[in-house]
This record gives sequence, C-alpha cells and structure tokens, in this order.
Amino acid sequence: MGLCASKQQTAGGGSKVAPAGKDSDQLSLQTDSQTSSLRVKGEFSALQLKSAVKVVVVVRPLLDAEKAKGATACVEAPSTTVVQLPPRRDASEPYRFDFDRVYKMSNPGRQMFAEVVQPLLSRFIQGFNTTVLAYGQTGSGKTFAMGTMGRQLSTFGEADGIISRSMRFIFDHMKVIRQQYDVSLKVSFIEIHQDDIRDLLGDGASTAPIQVRESPERGTYIENAQEVLVHSMDEAARLLEAGNMHRAVAAHNLNEHSSRSHAICTVQMEQRLRPSVPIGPEAQRFLRSKLHLVDLAGSERAKETGTTGQQFAEGVTINKGLLALGNVIGALTEGSGRKHIPYRDSKLTRILQDSLGGNSETLMVACVSPANTNFEPTLSTLRYASRARSIQNRVKQNNKYSPEEEIAYLRAELEEKNAMVAKLQSQLEMAASLMKGAVSPDNIKLVLPQHIRSPSAAGITSTRASFTGSGAF
Ligand SMILES: Nc1ncnc2c1ncn2[C@@H]1O[C@H](COP(=O)(O)OP(=O)(O)OP(=O)(O)O)[C@@H](O)[C@H]1O
Ligand SMILES: [Mg+2]
Repeated sequence: MGLCASKQQTAGGGSKVAPAGKDSDQLSLQTDSQTSSLRVKGEFSALQLKSAVKVVVVVRPLLDAEKAKGATACVEAPSTTVVQLPPRRDASEPYRFDFDRVYKMSNPGRQMFAEVVQPLLSRFIQGFNTTVLAYGQTGSGKTFAMGTMGRQLSTFGEADGIISRSMRFIFDHMKVIRQQYDVSLKVSFIEIHQDDIRDLLGDGASTAPIQVRESPERGTYIENAQEVLVHSMDEAARLLEAGNMHRAVAAHNLNEHSSRSHAICTVQMEQRLRPSVPIGPEAQRFLRSKLHLVDLAGSERAKETGTTGQQFAEGVTINKGLLALGNVIGALTEGSGRKHIPYRDSKLTRILQDSLGGNSETLMVACVSPANTNFEPTLSTLRYASRARSIQNRVKQNNKYSPEEEIAYLRAELEEKNAMVAKLQSQLEMAASLMKGAVSPDNIKLVLPQHIRSPSAAGITSTRASFTGSGAF
C-alpha cells in the first residue's frame, strides 16, 4: 500500500517513493479487522519510533463557478502518487511532485478513507496519537474532504467526509474492544477565530478562557474546552453537527461557504483492561490516545476573494496563522542544524505541536483546485505539502499510567473484587438458609438472579434442579 513506502529526497527538492520495507516502514500500518489483533506487541511499548508525516493530495473537480469564469483544468495526476503542473511561461519543465497518494476523482472519500485514514485509526485504537490535517487555499475542498460542513454526519453516503467515516470506524471497533476493556471516548470541538479559541460545543456561558497548555502526560492540550463523553455514533453525530453550526462561515468570491476559522475536533480514547480479564503477556492494561481532525481555513488573497471589513480582517488572521504553520513546517524540514521551532508564534501551531514534529502519526490531506486560475496558490500548496513529507515525528504508544492513575486503577480493581466477594458471600449465605428452610422464597427476590427467582420465566421447568446445582449461584 502507498503509505508503507519510505521516502528519499531527490536533488530537486521533490521526493521519490522507495519500495516498502525501509525506515518509516517499521511503523507500517496494520489493517486487521479484529481489534484484539491490533494490540501492539510488548517490544513496541517502551520505544519511541520515527514516523514521517504522510501526505496525500486531493484534486477536486472543476467547479461550475470556475468554468463560468473561463477556467480550465491544469493539474495532472500521471500516476496514483504524482501530481504535475504545467510549466510557467518562463520555465520549460513542468512542476512534478511525489506524494504518498493522489486522488483526482469525484468523491474520493470512500477510497481515501480505506487506503490512508483507516490504517491511521487502527494506530489510534492501539494507543497512538494521530492527526488528520486538511490544508490548502480557500475553496480547494478541505471542508468537503473532512466533512465539517453543516451536513448530516448521521447519514451514510458517498459524499461522507473523513470525520463521520472515522467516528463510525471507531464505534464499530469499540464493540470488539469492549469485550475486554472499559472504554471511554471524549470529544471536543473548537475553532480558532481571529486568534481566539472558541468552544464549538459550548453554549457561551462559560467565562473561563480557553488556553493551550502542555504537560508531560498529555502533551499539548486545550484547557477549559468541553470534553463530552459520547457513547454512540448518533450521539457523536448530533454533537458534531451542532458544533458545525456554530462555526464561523461566510461567502466570498471563491467559496460560498468559506470557513473563517480553523476547526479542530479532538477525540480522546481511554482503554482500561477490565480487572476480571486475565493479563496475557501481550495485553496492555491501559491505553490513552488522541485523534485530531483538523479543517484549516484556507489561505486567501483579498484581491481574489473580494473581502472587505470583518471578512478582510478574518482573512488577515487566517493568513497569519497559516504563515506560522508554514514557518514551523519550514523549520522542521530545514535540516538537522535547526533547533528552534517557532510553535509559540500562533495558537494554531501550539495546538498542532504534537502533530508536526511531536508524538503523533500525522496525515496531511492537501487539497487543490484544478483550475489554471488558481495556479499560484496550487503550486504553493504542493510545495509546502511536499516539504511536510520530510517531517519526522517521534511516536510512542501511550500505555503508561501516572503514579496517581496507577493507584486509582488498583483501588478500583480492589473495590470491584471486594464487591464481588461480598455479593458471592451473601448469595451463599442466602442459599444455605434456603436449603435449611429458614428463609421463604418470597424473601429472596432482591438477592437471587432472575432464573432462580422465577425459573419458569427463564425457561427452567424444574425448580429443584436450579437449586441443587452448585454452579447455579
Ligand atoms: N471532491 C469534491 N467534489 C465535488 N465538489 C467539491 C469537492 N471538494 C470541494 N467541492 C466543492 O468546492 C467548494 C469549496 O469546497 P470547501 O468549502 O470544502 O473548500 P475549503 O477548502 O474548505 O475552503 P475555505 O478555506 O474557504 O473554507 C464547495 O462548493 C464544495 O462542495
Ligand atoms: Mg472550509
């Protein structure tokens, strides 16, 4: 599969794809459908491994509005991993870029999910932090690809975006995980609008400022944003649809529904092995992972978008945030000499600190318009996306409790076992009394299980038979 290929820099700054089985291939993604087989073997657990940022390009179809302006398609995809732009007037060579995968088709959602997102989510379920980041100029299709529009996440169709497909995948796998683990899934959804972080799940009532923080256990995280426990796909879909409705959107010349903010949906999963489940040599007692699903606002030029006033100001801050992101990508790929990475220059780059150069496996979805009228922004997107491929993240499986969590876990385990012992004891006493005739069956309703209280309802015809078997309690 495309993502298993390792990369080598070519002299021209592009990259060529080497056969699978080298460097970053150590982290080649597993696609087993059984979650139990997704558990990472012990040898991985203490290691930090290098993982290059993967980049796929989505070339959306030419829009009617672009055709109406006389635009023609100029972006080629000569193979499934190459994008090509025609030469500028002053250049003789076409621009050629290699990526992990290129999608130039209508509705690439299903295929893209199966090929590149699902393997990443398998890692999320194994306890690794993961990120999917949509990047590109305004109107290039980021929101379409992520599915962060107001449209229904709860329907299932070809046009579904990455977010709804991901949530469905996670919930499907939780059914399997739950056979052995207590699992919790928390969702938060924020936007960065004009350099303020806003909670898309909140009702505006909270006055506590939303801040980006860092801790050794959690990495970078957002403080004071709501983290809502979700138990089903329906619950998650309703929550995220409501969040989408709160997002800042406006029309301009290049996009009728232009996102005026960067939106970050974060899904946190915690898995705790049930105390009653025996610990095998390969089982992890605890896994904690974080999935960022990021729909950036697109870079824009006021001359082309025609924005003024509030929208112009939004465009300026959007571009500032993206410039900071570009600087971080630049610094991370400048070579080994560079020490300072300017994450602190913007809230966006602080939040994405783990995703770019940190503890996360990251997939960038670079979106481009095929129109010749967008040649310059498309070239710029492809250049940055191409550079992002040489960012090396250091990922590790998050399988360690902090000392406090370890104590809480052991305490909960002890309490659960004590409760079980107490229950068994009282059932034994009750059974003994019953057999001696000291207790009438009317007095035991609250204690004994249904099949003993009402054997006929449970399909048991002989009362005596259920009382005499020692396994009945
Ligand atoms: N793969 C696609 N197939 C068909 N139409 C698409 C596709 N991708 C995007 N579009 C259409 O292109 C338009 C712009 O897409 P979208 O709003 O996703 O852009 P964006 O990159 O999020 O822009 P902005 O940065 O302004 O938010 C929309 O009308 C959308 O329906
Ligand atoms: Mg958008």
